[in-house]
Amino acid sequence: MDNFSYCSPTRYVFGKGTEKATGRLTAEMGVRKVRMVSGGGSARRSGLIDRVESSLKEAGIEWVELTGIQPNPTDDRVREGIGICRREEVDGVLAVGGGSVIDTAKAIAGGVPYDGDFWDFWAGKAVMERALPVGVVLTIPAAGSEGSGNSVITRLDGMHKISLRTDMALRPKFAVMNPELTFTLPPYQTASGVADMMAHIMERYFTTTEEVETTDRVAEGVLKAIITEAPRVMAEPENYDARANIMWAGTLAHNGICGCGRREDWSSHGLEHELSAVYGVTHGAGLAVVFPAWMTFMSDRRPAKIAQFARRVFGVDAADDREAALAGVERLKEFFKSLGLPVRMCELGIENADIDLLVKKFHEDKGLPFGPYYPLYEADTREIYRLML
Ligand code: NZQ
Ligand code: ZN
Repeated sequence: MDNFSYCSPTRYVFGKGTEKATGRLTAEMGVRKVRMVSGGGSARRSGLIDRVESSLKEAGIEWVELTGIQPNPTDDRVREGIGICRREEVDGVLAVGGGSVIDTAKAIAGGVPYDGDFWDFWAGKAVMERALPVGVVLTIPAAGSEGSGNSVITRLDGMHKISLRTDMALRPKFAVMNPELTFTLPPYQTASGVADMMAHIMERYFTTTEEVETTDRVAEGVLKAIITEAPRVMAEPENYDARANIMWAGTLAHNGICGCGRREDWSSHGLEHELSAVYGVTHGAGLAVVFPAWMTFMSDRRPAKIAQFARRVFGVDAADDREAALAGVERLKEFFKSLGLPVRMCELGIENADIDLLVKKFHEDKGLPFGPYYPLYEADTREIYRLML
Protein backbone atom coordinates (compact mmCIF):
# COMPACT_ATOMS: atom_id res chain seq x y z
CA MET A 1 0.00 0.00 0.00
CA ASP A 2 1.22 3.54 -0.79
CA ASN A 3 1.49 6.38 1.74
CA PHE A 4 -1.53 8.66 1.71
CA SER A 5 -3.15 11.70 3.28
CA TYR A 6 -6.94 11.60 3.29
CA CYS A 7 -9.16 14.49 4.33
CA SER A 8 -12.81 14.80 3.29
CA PRO A 9 -13.75 18.00 5.15
CA THR A 10 -17.21 18.47 3.63
CA ARG A 11 -20.12 18.42 6.03
CA TYR A 12 -22.76 16.20 4.42
CA VAL A 13 -26.26 17.12 5.60
CA PHE A 14 -28.35 14.26 4.27
CA GLY A 15 -32.08 13.52 4.22
CA LYS A 16 -35.61 14.79 3.74
CA GLY A 17 -36.12 18.55 3.92
CA THR A 18 -32.42 19.30 4.48
CA GLU A 19 -32.42 22.16 1.96
CA LYS A 20 -34.12 24.19 4.70
CA ALA A 21 -30.76 24.26 6.50
CA THR A 22 -28.97 25.95 3.57
CA GLY A 23 -29.13 29.47 5.06
CA ARG A 24 -27.82 28.37 8.45
CA LEU A 25 -25.03 26.31 6.88
CA THR A 26 -24.05 29.24 4.66
CA ALA A 27 -23.91 31.55 7.67
CA GLU A 28 -21.75 28.99 9.47
CA MET A 29 -19.19 29.28 6.65
CA GLY A 30 -18.77 32.90 7.81
CA VAL A 31 -20.40 34.24 4.66
CA ARG A 32 -22.90 37.15 4.43
CA LYS A 33 -23.43 37.45 0.66
CA VAL A 34 -23.33 34.54 -1.81
CA ARG A 35 -23.29 34.03 -5.50
CA MET A 36 -26.00 31.43 -6.09
CA VAL A 37 -25.23 29.34 -9.18
CA SER A 38 -27.87 27.13 -10.82
CA GLY A 39 -28.54 25.25 -14.04
CA GLY A 40 -30.97 25.35 -16.92
CA GLY A 41 -34.18 25.55 -14.88
CA SER A 42 -35.00 22.22 -13.19
CA ALA A 43 -34.29 23.61 -9.70
CA ARG A 44 -36.48 26.65 -10.34
CA ARG A 45 -39.34 24.52 -11.76
CA SER A 46 -39.32 22.10 -8.82
CA GLY A 47 -39.59 24.95 -6.31
CA LEU A 48 -36.16 24.18 -4.84
CA ILE A 49 -34.71 27.63 -5.58
CA ASP A 50 -37.66 29.28 -3.78
CA ARG A 51 -37.04 27.12 -0.72
CA VAL A 52 -33.31 27.84 -0.75
CA GLU A 53 -33.98 31.57 -1.10
CA SER A 54 -36.36 31.50 1.90
CA SER A 55 -33.71 29.71 3.92
CA LEU A 56 -31.05 32.28 2.96
CA LYS A 57 -33.42 35.12 3.84
CA GLU A 58 -34.18 33.62 7.25
CA ALA A 59 -30.46 33.39 7.98
CA GLY A 60 -29.90 37.01 6.88
CA ILE A 61 -27.77 36.04 3.85
CA GLU A 62 -27.88 38.17 0.71
CA TRP A 63 -27.45 36.58 -2.71
CA VAL A 64 -26.92 37.33 -6.39
CA GLU A 65 -27.85 34.74 -9.02
CA LEU A 66 -26.02 33.17 -11.93
CA THR A 67 -28.42 30.87 -13.78
CA GLY A 68 -28.48 28.82 -16.97
CA ILE A 69 -25.29 26.79 -16.47
CA GLN A 70 -25.38 24.02 -19.09
CA PRO A 71 -23.98 20.47 -18.87
CA ASN A 72 -20.24 20.34 -19.72
CA PRO A 73 -19.79 23.90 -18.40
CA THR A 74 -17.59 26.41 -20.16
CA ASP A 75 -15.00 29.04 -19.24
CA ASP A 76 -17.06 32.03 -20.46
CA ARG A 77 -19.66 31.53 -17.72
CA VAL A 78 -16.92 31.24 -15.10
CA ARG A 79 -15.42 34.60 -16.15
CA GLU A 80 -18.87 36.18 -16.11
CA GLY A 81 -19.40 34.80 -12.59
CA ILE A 82 -16.02 36.03 -11.34
CA GLY A 83 -16.70 39.56 -12.65
CA ILE A 84 -20.05 39.84 -10.91
CA CYS A 85 -18.70 38.38 -7.66
CA ARG A 86 -16.01 41.03 -7.53
CA ARG A 87 -18.41 43.88 -8.33
CA GLU A 88 -20.98 42.68 -5.81
CA GLU A 89 -18.35 41.87 -3.18
CA VAL A 90 -19.71 38.40 -2.45
CA ASP A 91 -17.74 36.30 -0.01
CA GLY A 92 -19.00 32.79 -0.81
CA VAL A 93 -20.51 30.69 -3.60
CA LEU A 94 -23.58 28.45 -3.35
CA ALA A 95 -24.19 25.81 -6.04
CA VAL A 96 -27.75 24.50 -6.45
CA GLY A 97 -27.58 21.67 -8.99
CA GLY A 98 -25.33 18.91 -10.29
CA GLY A 99 -21.71 18.58 -11.33
CA SER A 100 -21.86 21.24 -14.02
CA VAL A 101 -23.26 23.84 -11.64
CA ILE A 102 -20.97 22.85 -8.77
CA ASP A 103 -17.86 22.88 -10.98
CA THR A 104 -18.73 26.35 -12.27
CA ALA A 105 -19.29 27.54 -8.71
CA LYS A 106 -15.93 26.10 -7.66
CA ALA A 107 -14.10 27.70 -10.59
CA ILE A 108 -15.64 31.07 -9.72
CA ALA A 109 -14.65 30.56 -6.08
CA GLY A 110 -11.04 29.89 -7.07
CA GLY A 111 -10.92 32.71 -9.63
CA VAL A 112 -12.21 35.58 -7.47
CA PRO A 113 -9.20 35.90 -5.14
CA TYR A 114 -6.67 35.36 -7.99
CA ASP A 115 -5.14 38.30 -9.89
CA GLY A 116 -4.61 36.47 -13.21
CA ASP A 117 -7.03 34.57 -15.46
CA PHE A 118 -8.69 31.64 -13.64
CA TRP A 119 -7.75 29.28 -16.52
CA ASP A 120 -4.09 29.50 -15.38
CA PHE A 121 -4.97 26.87 -12.76
CA TRP A 122 -6.53 24.50 -15.32
CA ALA A 123 -3.60 25.06 -17.70
CA GLY A 124 -1.14 24.13 -14.95
CA LYS A 125 0.43 27.62 -14.92
CA ALA A 126 -0.52 28.37 -11.31
CA VAL A 127 -1.39 26.37 -8.21
CA MET A 128 -4.69 27.17 -6.50
CA GLU A 129 -4.15 27.58 -2.81
CA ARG A 130 -7.24 29.49 -1.76
CA ALA A 131 -10.80 30.00 -2.88
CA LEU A 132 -14.01 31.52 -1.57
CA PRO A 133 -15.96 28.98 0.50
CA VAL A 134 -18.36 26.84 -1.54
CA GLY A 135 -21.63 25.30 -0.34
CA VAL A 136 -23.72 22.83 -2.35
CA VAL A 137 -27.37 21.81 -2.63
CA LEU A 138 -27.11 18.64 -4.72
CA THR A 139 -29.85 17.70 -7.22
CA ILE A 140 -28.27 14.76 -9.09
CA PRO A 141 -26.04 11.97 -7.79
CA ALA A 142 -23.40 11.52 -10.48
CA ALA A 143 -20.24 13.63 -10.68
CA GLY A 144 -19.46 13.46 -6.96
CA SER A 145 -18.35 17.09 -7.09
CA GLU A 146 -20.18 17.73 -3.80
CA GLY A 147 -17.33 15.95 -2.01
CA SER A 148 -14.41 16.21 -4.43
CA GLY A 149 -11.64 18.77 -4.78
CA ASN A 150 -12.12 18.79 -8.57
CA SER A 151 -13.68 21.14 -11.06
CA VAL A 152 -14.08 20.19 -14.72
CA ILE A 153 -14.38 23.11 -17.16
CA THR A 154 -14.28 23.26 -20.96
CA ARG A 155 -12.29 26.08 -22.57
CA LEU A 156 -14.28 27.09 -25.64
CA ASP A 157 -11.12 28.09 -27.50
CA GLY A 158 -10.03 24.65 -28.79
CA MET A 159 -12.76 22.80 -26.80
CA HIS A 160 -10.36 21.57 -24.12
CA LYS A 161 -12.22 19.89 -21.26
CA ILE A 162 -9.87 19.78 -18.30
CA SER A 163 -10.29 18.54 -14.74
CA LEU A 164 -8.45 20.55 -12.11
CA ARG A 165 -7.80 18.50 -8.99
CA THR A 166 -6.95 20.40 -5.83
CA ASP A 167 -6.19 18.71 -2.58
CA MET A 168 -8.28 21.00 -0.37
CA ALA A 169 -9.01 24.42 -1.93
CA LEU A 170 -12.11 23.37 -3.87
CA ARG A 171 -13.71 20.85 -1.53
CA PRO A 172 -17.14 22.19 -0.57
CA LYS A 173 -17.65 23.27 3.04
CA PHE A 174 -21.08 21.63 3.09
CA ALA A 175 -23.31 19.56 0.84
CA VAL A 176 -27.05 19.43 1.40
CA MET A 177 -28.26 16.08 0.04
CA ASN A 178 -32.00 15.44 -0.02
CA PRO A 179 -32.75 12.31 -2.09
CA GLU A 180 -36.29 13.61 -2.73
CA LEU A 181 -34.77 16.32 -4.92
CA THR A 182 -33.70 13.59 -7.35
CA PHE A 183 -37.24 12.22 -7.95
CA THR A 184 -37.61 14.56 -10.94
CA LEU A 185 -34.51 13.31 -12.76
CA PRO A 186 -35.12 12.01 -16.29
CA PRO A 187 -34.23 8.26 -16.52
CA TYR A 188 -31.27 8.93 -18.84
CA GLN A 189 -29.72 11.34 -16.31
CA THR A 190 -30.30 8.87 -13.46
CA ALA A 191 -28.65 6.08 -15.43
CA SER A 192 -25.78 8.29 -16.61
CA GLY A 193 -25.16 9.28 -13.00
CA VAL A 194 -24.93 5.61 -12.05
CA ALA A 195 -22.35 4.96 -14.78
CA ASP A 196 -20.34 7.99 -13.67
CA MET A 197 -20.21 6.96 -10.01
CA MET A 198 -19.22 3.40 -10.96
CA ALA A 199 -16.49 4.86 -13.17
CA HIS A 200 -15.17 6.97 -10.29
CA ILE A 201 -14.69 3.81 -8.26
CA MET A 202 -13.23 1.82 -11.16
CA GLU A 203 -10.66 4.53 -12.01
CA ARG A 204 -9.34 3.94 -8.50
CA TYR A 205 -9.91 0.18 -8.39
CA PHE A 206 -7.78 -0.57 -11.47
CA THR A 207 -4.39 0.07 -9.93
CA THR A 208 -0.90 -1.35 -10.11
CA THR A 209 -0.41 -0.81 -6.36
CA GLU A 210 -0.19 -4.15 -4.56
CA GLU A 211 -1.63 -5.11 -1.16
CA VAL A 212 -4.61 -2.75 -1.04
CA GLU A 213 -7.21 -5.25 0.13
CA THR A 214 -9.03 -2.89 2.52
CA THR A 215 -9.61 -0.19 -0.08
CA ASP A 216 -10.42 -2.85 -2.70
CA ARG A 217 -13.15 -4.21 -0.44
CA VAL A 218 -14.57 -0.72 0.26
CA ALA A 219 -14.71 -0.10 -3.50
CA GLU A 220 -16.31 -3.49 -4.24
CA GLY A 221 -18.90 -2.91 -1.51
CA VAL A 222 -19.98 0.44 -2.93
CA LEU A 223 -20.05 -0.98 -6.47
CA LYS A 224 -22.23 -3.88 -5.36
CA ALA A 225 -24.63 -1.53 -3.58
CA ILE A 226 -24.93 0.55 -6.76
CA ILE A 227 -25.59 -2.58 -8.85
CA THR A 228 -28.40 -3.56 -6.45
CA GLU A 229 -29.96 -0.13 -6.05
CA ALA A 230 -29.72 1.23 -9.61
CA PRO A 231 -32.43 -1.04 -11.09
CA ARG A 232 -34.69 -0.03 -8.18
CA VAL A 233 -34.36 3.71 -8.88
CA MET A 234 -34.96 3.11 -12.57
CA ALA A 235 -38.13 1.10 -11.86
CA GLU A 236 -39.38 3.30 -9.01
CA PRO A 237 -38.08 6.87 -9.44
CA GLU A 238 -39.84 8.00 -6.25
CA ASN A 239 -38.50 5.21 -4.02
CA TYR A 240 -36.86 7.32 -1.31
CA ASP A 241 -34.58 4.62 0.08
CA ALA A 242 -33.28 3.49 -3.29
CA ARG A 243 -32.64 7.15 -4.25
CA ALA A 244 -30.93 7.71 -0.89
CA ASN A 245 -28.61 4.74 -1.34
CA ILE A 246 -27.65 5.84 -4.84
CA MET A 247 -27.08 9.42 -3.69
CA TRP A 248 -24.75 8.41 -0.88
CA ALA A 249 -22.92 5.94 -3.15
CA GLY A 250 -22.24 8.79 -5.61
CA THR A 251 -20.47 10.73 -2.88
CA LEU A 252 -18.47 7.79 -1.51
CA ALA A 253 -17.42 6.95 -5.07
CA HIS A 254 -15.57 10.23 -5.47
CA ASN A 255 -14.70 11.82 -2.12
CA GLY A 256 -11.42 9.91 -1.99
CA ILE A 257 -12.27 7.02 0.36
CA CYS A 258 -12.08 4.51 -2.52
CA GLY A 259 -8.62 5.74 -3.54
CA CYS A 260 -6.69 5.58 -0.29
CA GLY A 261 -3.21 4.09 -0.51
CA ARG A 262 -3.16 3.38 -4.23
CA ARG A 263 -2.20 4.79 -7.60
CA GLU A 264 -5.34 5.83 -9.51
CA ASP A 265 -5.75 5.64 -13.27
CA TRP A 266 -8.23 8.19 -14.79
CA SER A 267 -7.50 7.29 -18.45
CA SER A 268 -11.16 6.47 -19.12
CA HIS A 269 -12.22 9.87 -17.81
CA GLY A 270 -9.65 11.52 -20.05
CA LEU A 271 -10.92 9.55 -23.06
CA GLU A 272 -14.52 10.48 -22.20
CA HIS A 273 -13.78 14.16 -21.64
CA GLU A 274 -12.74 14.36 -25.30
CA LEU A 275 -16.08 12.82 -26.32
CA SER A 276 -18.02 15.37 -24.26
CA ALA A 277 -15.83 18.25 -25.46
CA VAL A 278 -16.07 17.35 -29.16
CA TYR A 279 -19.56 15.81 -29.36
CA GLY A 280 -21.31 17.28 -26.29
CA VAL A 281 -22.35 13.89 -24.90
CA THR A 282 -23.57 13.37 -21.33
CA HIS A 283 -20.47 12.53 -19.28
CA GLY A 284 -21.81 9.37 -17.56
CA ALA A 285 -23.29 7.97 -20.77
CA GLY A 286 -19.93 8.55 -22.46
CA LEU A 287 -18.24 6.56 -19.70
CA ALA A 288 -20.63 3.63 -20.29
CA VAL A 289 -19.10 3.47 -23.78
CA VAL A 290 -15.48 4.20 -22.82
CA PHE A 291 -14.98 1.96 -19.78
CA PRO A 292 -15.87 -1.40 -21.39
CA ALA A 293 -13.57 -0.54 -24.34
CA TRP A 294 -10.68 0.39 -22.02
CA MET A 295 -11.23 -2.81 -19.99
CA THR A 296 -11.32 -4.95 -23.14
CA PHE A 297 -8.00 -3.43 -24.22
CA MET A 298 -6.51 -4.07 -20.76
CA SER A 299 -7.77 -7.66 -20.66
CA ASP A 300 -5.05 -8.50 -23.19
CA ARG A 301 -2.32 -6.52 -21.44
CA ARG A 302 -2.91 -6.35 -17.70
CA PRO A 303 -5.87 -8.61 -16.93
CA ALA A 304 -5.36 -9.52 -13.24
CA LYS A 305 -7.18 -6.60 -11.65
CA ILE A 306 -9.95 -6.61 -14.26
CA ALA A 307 -10.41 -10.33 -13.55
CA GLN A 308 -10.57 -9.63 -9.79
CA PHE A 309 -13.28 -7.03 -10.48
CA ALA A 310 -15.18 -9.54 -12.65
CA ARG A 311 -15.04 -12.25 -10.00
CA ARG A 312 -15.74 -10.18 -6.91
CA VAL A 313 -18.23 -7.65 -8.26
CA PHE A 314 -20.08 -9.69 -10.90
CA GLY A 315 -19.46 -13.22 -9.60
CA VAL A 316 -17.68 -14.44 -12.75
CA ASP A 317 -16.08 -17.83 -12.05
CA ALA A 318 -13.62 -18.38 -14.93
CA ALA A 319 -10.18 -19.52 -13.71
CA ASP A 320 -8.14 -17.87 -16.47
CA ASP A 321 -7.61 -14.12 -15.85
CA ARG A 322 -8.10 -12.99 -19.44
CA GLU A 323 -11.24 -15.05 -19.82
CA ALA A 324 -12.62 -13.80 -16.50
CA ALA A 325 -11.76 -10.18 -17.38
CA LEU A 326 -13.56 -10.38 -20.73
CA ALA A 327 -16.58 -12.05 -19.12
CA GLY A 328 -16.63 -9.18 -16.59
CA VAL A 329 -16.65 -6.64 -19.43
CA GLU A 330 -19.69 -8.39 -20.94
CA ARG A 331 -21.48 -8.37 -17.57
CA LEU A 332 -20.74 -4.67 -17.13
CA LYS A 333 -22.08 -3.90 -20.62
CA GLU A 334 -25.23 -5.92 -19.94
CA PHE A 335 -25.72 -3.98 -16.73
CA PHE A 336 -25.35 -0.62 -18.50
CA LYS A 337 -27.72 -1.75 -21.25
CA SER A 338 -30.31 -2.82 -18.66
CA LEU A 339 -30.34 0.80 -17.44
CA GLY A 340 -30.91 2.06 -20.99
CA LEU A 341 -27.34 3.32 -21.42
CA PRO A 342 -25.35 3.24 -24.65
CA VAL A 343 -22.31 0.96 -24.93
CA ARG A 344 -21.18 1.98 -28.42
CA MET A 345 -20.38 5.36 -29.92
CA CYS A 346 -23.22 5.20 -32.45
CA GLU A 347 -25.65 4.69 -29.56
CA LEU A 348 -24.32 7.97 -28.15
CA GLY A 349 -25.35 9.60 -31.42
CA ILE A 350 -21.77 9.79 -32.73
CA GLU A 351 -21.66 8.59 -36.33
CA ASN A 352 -18.32 8.74 -38.18
CA ALA A 353 -16.25 9.63 -35.12
CA ASP A 354 -13.09 11.60 -35.90
CA ILE A 355 -10.77 9.23 -34.05
CA ASP A 356 -7.59 11.06 -35.13
CA LEU A 357 -8.91 14.25 -33.58
CA LEU A 358 -9.92 12.46 -30.35
CA VAL A 359 -6.49 10.82 -30.06
CA LYS A 360 -4.68 14.10 -30.72
CA LYS A 361 -6.75 16.02 -28.16
CA PHE A 362 -6.44 13.27 -25.55
CA HIS A 363 -2.63 13.38 -25.64
CA GLU A 364 -2.55 17.20 -25.85
CA ASP A 365 -4.64 17.37 -22.69
CA LYS A 366 -3.24 14.40 -20.77
CA GLY A 367 0.34 13.99 -22.05
CA LEU A 368 2.15 11.24 -23.93
CA PRO A 369 2.14 8.54 -22.79
CA PHE A 370 -0.76 8.70 -20.32
CA GLY A 371 -2.13 5.95 -18.09
CA PRO A 372 -0.93 4.97 -14.63
CA TYR A 373 -2.49 1.48 -14.98
CA TYR A 374 -0.91 0.93 -18.38
CA PRO A 375 0.81 3.69 -20.41
CA LEU A 376 -1.20 4.64 -23.47
CA TYR A 377 0.64 5.80 -26.59
CA GLU A 378 -1.19 7.12 -29.65
CA ALA A 379 -1.66 3.66 -31.21
CA ASP A 380 -3.15 2.33 -27.96
CA THR A 381 -5.50 5.28 -27.60
CA ARG A 382 -6.60 4.84 -31.22
CA GLU A 383 -7.32 1.16 -30.60
CA ILE A 384 -9.43 1.92 -27.51
CA TYR A 385 -11.49 4.51 -29.40
CA ARG A 386 -11.94 1.94 -32.22
CA LEU A 387 -13.24 -0.60 -29.69
CA MET A 388 -16.06 1.88 -28.94
CA LEU A 389 -17.35 1.87 -32.54
O1 NZQ B 1 -29.64 22.35 -15.78
P1 NZQ B 1 -30.85 21.73 -15.21
O2 NZQ B 1 -32.12 22.28 -15.72
O3 NZQ B 1 -30.80 21.63 -13.70
O4 NZQ B 1 -30.87 20.19 -15.77
C1 NZQ B 1 -29.84 19.28 -15.43
C2 NZQ B 1 -28.99 18.89 -16.63
O5 NZQ B 1 -29.71 18.98 -17.82
C3 NZQ B 1 -30.48 17.96 -15.06
N1 NZQ B 1 -30.85 17.88 -13.66
C4 NZQ B 1 -30.04 17.98 -12.58
N2 NZQ B 1 -30.72 17.76 -11.45
C5 NZQ B 1 -32.02 17.54 -11.83
C6 NZQ B 1 -32.09 17.62 -13.23
N3 NZQ B 1 -33.26 17.43 -13.90
C7 NZQ B 1 -34.35 17.16 -13.19
N4 NZQ B 1 -34.35 17.03 -11.82
C8 NZQ B 1 -33.20 17.21 -11.12
N5 NZQ B 1 -33.19 17.04 -9.78
O6 NZQ B 1 -29.48 17.00 -15.32
C9 NZQ B 1 -28.67 17.42 -16.40
C10 NZQ B 1 -27.23 17.14 -16.09
O7 NZQ B 1 -26.74 17.99 -15.09
P2 NZQ B 1 -25.17 18.05 -14.80
O8 NZQ B 1 -24.93 19.02 -13.68
O9 NZQ B 1 -24.43 18.28 -16.06
O10 NZQ B 1 -24.91 16.55 -14.29
P3 NZQ B 1 -23.71 15.85 -13.60
O11 NZQ B 1 -23.83 15.94 -12.12
O12 NZQ B 1 -23.63 14.53 -14.22
O13 NZQ B 1 -22.40 16.70 -13.97
C11 NZQ B 1 -21.68 16.46 -15.14
C12 NZQ B 1 -20.45 17.35 -15.19
O14 NZQ B 1 -19.57 17.07 -14.07
C13 NZQ B 1 -18.26 16.77 -14.59
C14 NZQ B 1 -18.56 16.15 -15.92
O15 NZQ B 1 -17.44 16.09 -16.75
C15 NZQ B 1 -19.64 17.08 -16.46
O16 NZQ B 1 -19.08 18.27 -16.95
N6 NZQ B 1 -17.53 15.96 -13.61
C16 NZQ B 1 -17.12 16.56 -12.48
C17 NZQ B 1 -16.36 15.91 -11.53
C18 NZQ B 1 -15.89 16.59 -10.31
N7 NZQ B 1 -16.01 17.91 -10.23
O17 NZQ B 1 -15.34 15.97 -9.38
C19 NZQ B 1 -15.97 14.51 -11.69
C20 NZQ B 1 -16.67 13.81 -12.80
O18 NZQ B 1 -15.85 12.76 -13.26
C21 NZQ B 1 -17.09 14.63 -13.95
O19 NZQ B 1 -16.05 14.74 -14.90
ZN1 ZN C 1 -16.93 11.22 -13.89
